[in-house]
Amino acid sequence: MRNFLDIHKTDPADLRGMIDQAAAMKSARQGLPKGTPDAQQPLTNHMVALIFEKPSTRTRVSFDVGVRQMGGQTMVLSGADMQLGHGETIADTARVLSRYVDLIMIRTFDETTLLELAEHASVPVINGLTDRTHPCQIMADVLTYEEHRGPIAGKKVVWTGDGNNVCASFLHAAGQFGFDLTFSGPEVLDPEPEFVEFARSKGSTVTIERDVNKAVEGADLVVADTWVSMHDAQSTRERRHNLLRPYQVNDALMARAKPDALFMHCLPAHREEEVTSSVMDGPHSVIFDEAENRLHAQKAVLRWCLGV
Ligand code: CP
Ligand code: NVA
Repeated sequence: MRNFLDIHKTDPADLRGMIDQAAAMKSARQGLPKGTPDAQQPLTNHMVALIFEKPSTRTRVSFDVGVRQMGGQTMVLSGADMQLGHGETIADTARVLSRYVDLIMIRTFDETTLLELAEHASVPVINGLTDRTHPCQIMADVLTYEEHRGPIAGKKVVWTGDGNNVCASFLHAAGQFGFDLTFSGPEVLDPEPEFVEFARSKGSTVTIERDVNKAVEGADLVVADTWVSMHDAQSTRERRHNLLRPYQVNDALMARAKPDALFMHCLPAHREEEVTSSVMDGPHSVIFDEAENRLHAQKAVLRWCLGV
């Protein structure tokens, strides 16, 4: 039994194995109607709980579809509708759910909720996003980069804007997959030093460059995310917009990256804020491949957790 809590907590060989298996499973489904079961049904007789304490489109649908394609069943639970939202402890919730289901995926606010759930569950737990990290997203992003451009090792990834939860998992991935990351955003929104130090400890070059025009020079991949995350107070919205506006990804900025640079965004995006529609819908963008690859990457994560 294995938890998928974060990229830096997962063995690099296992991460590589999951990316390769995801690519193979994706390729095996090419041209089939989306509801077609996979030829192999490794999740037969497996029940998976998907708990959401925050909104979700991609994570919710991709996990649900992925489990079903592999022969398993799911239940999607809203944290607010569970006793969890009414005072039952996370530890007790973990013990109870472990009696019913074979795996728990949770999207929550505080990372300690995830960690406590994993500590007290006797089934695998997957991190479907916390305020601090979003590992499943970056597994999909690595898969997406590699299917378009080959190995990500040694490449230059430029993160623009807020040093948030998705940025944190990118830094973990930089360390584990061996690429370099340049962060370009305002100092007050820098990623936590712990994430930067992890990537550096694994030999990645992490650069902080406040001038976004300089930052994207030589970039193989440019990444943006929302300026206001789900865990950010709406009262900070105007301040965040003012701080982050200079980091918008637009055509002029993309033109300074390598000619074959890719553009990624985990979505949902706010068109004309962190990124223009011209970039989202333009030739560098692979945003919908990223969204699709959530499905394939997470299927490999599920199999790894369950050992099937
Ligand atoms: N990228 C992502 O996690 O999207 P959702 O919030 O729609 O799940
Ligand atoms: N940083 C965003 C990612 C959404 C998938 C958030 O946490 O809201």
